[in-house]
Amino acid sequence: MTITQDSSAPLVAVVGATGAQGGSVVRALIESDKPYRVRIFTRDASKPAAKEFTSKGAEAVVVSITVDNKEAVYKAFEGADYVFSVTNWAEHGDPSREEAEGKLMVDAAKAAGVKGLVWSGLSSISALSGGKYPNVGHFESKARVTEYGRASGVPFVDIQGAGFTSSLTSYAKPTKTGADSWTQYFPVASTKAMAIIDAEHDYGLWVRKALELPVFPNGQSWAAVGEFISPEDQMKQLAEVTGKSMTYAEITPDAFAQGMESAGTPPHIVLAVKEVFTGVGEFGYFSKDTIVTTEGLARKPRTWKESVAAMDLSSVFA
Ligand SMILES: NC(=O)c1ccc[n+]([C@@H]2O[C@H](COP(=O)([O-])OP(=O)(O)OC[C@H]3O[C@@H](n4cnc5c(N)ncnc54)[C@H](OP(=O)(O)O)[C@@H]3O)[C@@H](O)[C@H]2O)c1
Repeated sequence: MTITQDSSAPLVAVVGATGAQGGSVVRALIESDKPYRVRIFTRDASKPAAKEFTSKGAEAVVVSITVDNKEAVYKAFEGADYVFSVTNWAEHGDPSREEAEGKLMVDAAKAAGVKGLVWSGLSSISALSGGKYPNVGHFESKARVTEYGRASGVPFVDIQGAGFTSSLTSYAKPTKTGADSWTQYFPVASTKAMAIIDAEHDYGLWVRKALELPVFPNGQSWAAVGEFISPEDQMKQLAEVTGKSMTYAEITPDAFAQGMESAGTPPHIVLAVKEVFTGVGEFGYFSKDTIVTTEGLARKPRTWKESVAAMDLSSVFA
């Protein structure tokens, strides 16, 4: 079904639609056999992803979602039946800004009187670890937005993305170690099952499910996971897909952090990254109340192998 203009169809406003998770949300709604009106937010409507969705009938609203732009944000949310919200921590690296912008979107959704707000949150590593790892700022800020959303009175669902498979082409990129061999050096035990998702392809499946359940699952936290798979098996399967020699080597969080430090990464982010991998390795990624299931999705999400087989890996093997 394409996006409709029929005013009887629910209007879904999607933050981050030009990015991985928001883009996946829009595509999942387009794939649905139910009619939706779709409003996308971007700071630049000339982006290819924005044009792709407007050519399919979405309305693009150009707005920057920041606390000093409150009035425009409230106006942009007006008339929406549902909102999908996400923050882009990596663009500024400031957890308190992320928290403030996440809360701003809850307030704007409340003012718009939406029937449901779906938020891309993450679990508190501090809570998961009983306070042992309190410095994963971008998880803590998202968890605080979740608490705020749950207390806001707006029907609120938190859908937590697993580790993106696309990280293979960025911070988890394997290093060339021989003529036709690569090693991925990463601070996680080789046999630890890690939650992964092809976010661009599949994250929106859970959002669509939340919108299409007979009753909006207010108050719940869901995990968006394609598969749990160890780093060792990830590299084995990558070798099968590419025909290259791929190995995995666990390194210490300190060794991983050294690489980030020498690349000029700010100290609070280096600490956050160190604690997130150590914390997740010891205590897991999702809090106990996060529901992990693929039941009720419109289709199966990709496994690791399916995701890397579909991925442009030219930057990995350049
Ligand atoms: N990488 C992982 O493994 C992983 C796993 C789970 C969760 N996450 C979280 O995912 C989040 C990022 O989501 P993503 O990867 O889906 O996004 P993304 O692909 O990095 O794209 C960012 C999106 O945010 C929008 N945006 C940024 N600043 C904005 C602003 N001021 N006003 C309006 N829109 C703004 C951008 O829109 P325009 O540029 O078009 O304006 C773009 O659509 C991060 O907070 C990260 O912590 C990442």
